[in-house]
Amino acid sequence: GAPVVVDISKIDLEPGMRMIVQWRGKPVWIFKRTQEQLAALPGLDERLRDPSSENADQTPGFARNGYRSIKPEIAVMVGICTHLGCSPSYVPEMLPQPYDSQWQGGFYCPCHNSRFDLAGRVFQGVPAPSNLEVPPYHFQDDNHIVVG
Ligand code: FES
Repeated sequence: GAPVVVDISKIDLEPGMRMIVQWRGKPVWIFKRTQEQLAALPGLDERLRDPSSENADQTPGFARNGYRSIKPEIAVMVGICTHLGCSPSYVPEMLPQPYDSQWQGGFYCPCHNSRFDLAGRVFQGVPAPSNLEVPPYHFQDDNHIVVG
């Protein structure tokens, strides 16, 4: 498939906004993370299966960092659960108790209850075996991402 150019200039219009584009028949999510959300990520490491994204199948080298992205605030990932391919729900906000007092925002797969953080990193103790896939991408300029 051809690379897909995405105009992200309007990604700031609403808080928690997420863009979804199709690349090679897969949904690719692009969303912005706040400074508060970014600051919460390292604190989750010990609850995750692969916090440093050592599995290269899901994480290309350029994204093997704490945010799994090129620019910390802009996330780009394939929106397909790594268990059996369902579509996880975007739950970016912190949840009030009693749901999960440690939930810092992320993705929830309703098929078999897998959970991922806002970097697409999978939690321990859920069926999904690995982090969400980060596709190849780069910035053409500040407002355009090329996926693929
Ligand atoms: Fe997502 Fe099974 S497909 S948890």
